[in-house]
Amino acid sequence: MSVVAFPGAAGFVPAGAGLAALRTAALTCAGCELAGPATQTVFSAGPAGARLAVVGEQPGDVEDRRGMPFVGPAGQLLDRALGEVGIDRSTVYVTNTVKHFRFSAGGEGGGGTRRIHQTPDTVHIDACKPWLLAELAVVDPDVVVLLGATAGKALLGPTFRVTRDRGRLIPRVARRDEPAALQAGWLLATLHPSAILRADDQDAAYTGFVADLRLAALVLTTGRPHPPQARVDHGLVGVFDQGRTPTTP
Ligand code: URA
Ligand code: SF4
Repeated sequence: MSVVAFPGAAGFVPAGAGLAALRTAALTCAGCELAGPATQTVFSAGPAGARLAVVGEQPGDVEDRRGMPFVGPAGQLLDRALGEVGIDRSTVYVTNTVKHFRFSAGGEGGGGTRRIHQTPDTVHIDACKPWLLAELAVVDPDVVVLLGATAGKALLGPTFRVTRDRGRLIPRVARRDEPAALQAGWLLATLHPSAILRADDQDAAYTGFVADLRLAALVLTTGRPHPPQARVDHGLVGVFDQGRTPTTP
């Protein structure tokens, strides 16, 4: 694994920009090595006034070609699960932690070059993070659902673990530069839909995913966590310390 420091996206993010200007600026981002091989920047989809944001990992093969997030198989699963908890995908702000598809060239492939998904490294997550922070600051949703380890690490730090940290509401500190705005909504981590599609027991994984999304939906309908420090019990987390630090017994 190469450990290369990239300049990062910060120098490409226009100060004080709205969503449309961020989207346009991101098209020419060269903050890391991923811009070169990919087809295009895949920024986000959904309304700027969305109360729910969903953050994935990076565009996949289909998203890279079409320029839109979550329009492939993982996106279809996401749409279905959102629908089950009463959320219409078109009302959701959907984005990714890393805005370019990272892949390696596959070997065989019927004439074409097969592109094999590669998980982004921490250097790519760090390089791209200014876009994610900027868009979340503009949209300022009530709930940000983090799909899988990459999104979780980006916003909750390198010690994040999906199985341990999923399914509970974590206060989101939105504007660290404004002392008055200590909390703006909630973060809620859950499985990545691609992990569900790969799971040995897809039904169980999907059921857990829907349960996590139901908690997000509950916050949207009640306007606050209910009950306080709400979490979904997947039987994976033991003792709960003030709703913040899960520890296994
Ligand atoms: N997986 C992701 O994390 N994001 C997408 O946009 C598609 C698949
Ligand atoms: Fe810029 Fe992010 Fe693309 Fe890297 S992955 S070039 S930081 S938009």
